[in-house]
Formats: sequence, C-alpha cells, structure tokens
Amino acid sequence: MRRPLIAGNWKMYKTITETRHLVSELVPGLQAVNGVEKAICPPFTALLAASALLEGTDIRLGAQNMHWESSGAYTGEISPMMLAELCHYVIIGHSERRTYFGETDETVNLKIRAALKQSLTPIFCVGETLRENEAGRTAEVVSRQVREGLKGVDLMLSGDFETELVIAYEPVWAIGTGKAATSEGANMVIKDIIRPALAEQYGVDLAQAVRVLYGGSVKAENAHEFFHAPDIDGALVGGASLKSADFIRIVQAAAKG
Ligand code: 13P
Repeated sequence: MRRPLIAGNWKMYKTITETRHLVSELVPGLQAVNGVEKAICPPFTALLAASALLEGTDIRLGAQNMHWESSGAYTGEISPMMLAELCHYVIIGHSERRTYFGETDETVNLKIRAALKQSLTPIFCVGETLRENEAGRTAEVVSRQVREGLKGVDLMLSGDFETELVIAYEPVWAIGTGKAATSEGANMVIKDIIRPALAEQYGVDLAQAVRVLYGGSVKAENAHEFFHAPDIDGALVGGASLKSADFIRIVQAAAKG
C-alpha cells in the first residue's frame, strides 16, 4: 500500500516573516489529519524558520532545487549536504527549472544521484508541454524523462515497501493555468507510461511501490477527484499550497481517498 503524500511547492513566494505566519496556520490543521504524509517546500531562505516551527510535528520539509556537488566554487548555489541538515525532500527537475534555468535530463540525473547520496528523497518531476501533448508525444517524452533522469540510479525497496524516490507527473500545460488534467488522463499516464518505464529498469515490485503524485492546478475544489484514481498517490500543489485553508482541505481530501 502506498501512503498518499501531499507536498506544497511554494515556488518563489513567502519571506521569512510570511513563512512563519503560514506555517503557524498550517500546523494545527495538518496535524489533525492522519494517514497522509504532508510536506512543504518553501524557498531556501525560509527553510530554517520553517524547520524550527515544524519540529515535533509529522510535517516534512523539502527544498525546491539544489546543485549536485556537495561543495565548491559555485556562486549562488545550494548543495545537497546543506539541505540534508534541514530537509527530507528535494524537488528535482521541475518544469520551471527545465524551462527557465536550462535544466536537462542530464543535470536532473546528476541531482537525483546527489540527493540520494545525502539521503534526501527526490520528488522527481516529469511532464510534457502543450505542444508535445498536442503532437501525441506524451508517452515518448515522459518515458524518456523517467529513463534518462534515473539512468544508473540504484533504487531499493525499504522494509515498509516504500522507496526513497517520489515522482511527480506535472503536465506543463496544467501548471498555474487553472486547467488541470483529468484524473483519468493523469492516471493513465502514470499507469501506462511512468510505472512501465520504472518496471523496465527496476522490476514490477519497485514500480508498484514508488509513489507518483499528480501536479498542475490542484485546488481544494478538484483535489478529491485525483485521490480516487488508483495510480495517483497524492499531489504536488503550487498556488493552492500558499493558502492555509486550501492546502489543509487538499490534505483532508487525500485522507478520504
Ligand atoms: P499549480 O498548482 O500552481 O498549478 O503548480 C503546480 C506545480 O508546479 C507544483 O510543482
């Protein structure tokens, strides 16, 4: 059984002061929900403040990006070693990083390896653009992203039948557009493209154990639709994770399955 995970990707929003505010609002509501794993991914500058407020809760902290080297002359970068002191998760290969910051399957692969080496759990993002979708290239693009991102990466099943990797299927055309994928459509990509690509490399058991989230315009109003779908194991939430009431409602919807 895969335990649902709801992760909030705050993107480039929230100062330290605003983070303290939002986390204080989130903690009681999120703590009241059982059976769902919850995580928030604030910007780097707010991680320390958030981690202090999350101490003693079961809410996990994640970062949104990192470099693959553990240290070095890389002005402006943050290393996996630095994040490992604060975070459980790190989002890797988000489409905004691929589009605006030149990330490629190759750099994504380096980052996934580096994260695992530091015992950070990658939330590895894949997804096709509108143009690729309309050209009928979804299967080709998404399976390539999974294969290349995980090239040479060893993954193991842990005792509780979970893996140290989470995948997020985020069709680029659904991100921040208010135009979410249908739960049937997202489920189909996960079941017929992402899990088979994992099975090819790691076998069926592992492919079934990896949690695959859906991301793209998930809101309090539509969240429940996704959590009924058998292959969708939660959500990576952007805009709606910045409002405490909305994010709490999404986590509650995941608990109801
Ligand atoms: P929105 O939920 O704002 O569409 O963003 C999704 C996303 O990019 C999460 O990583």
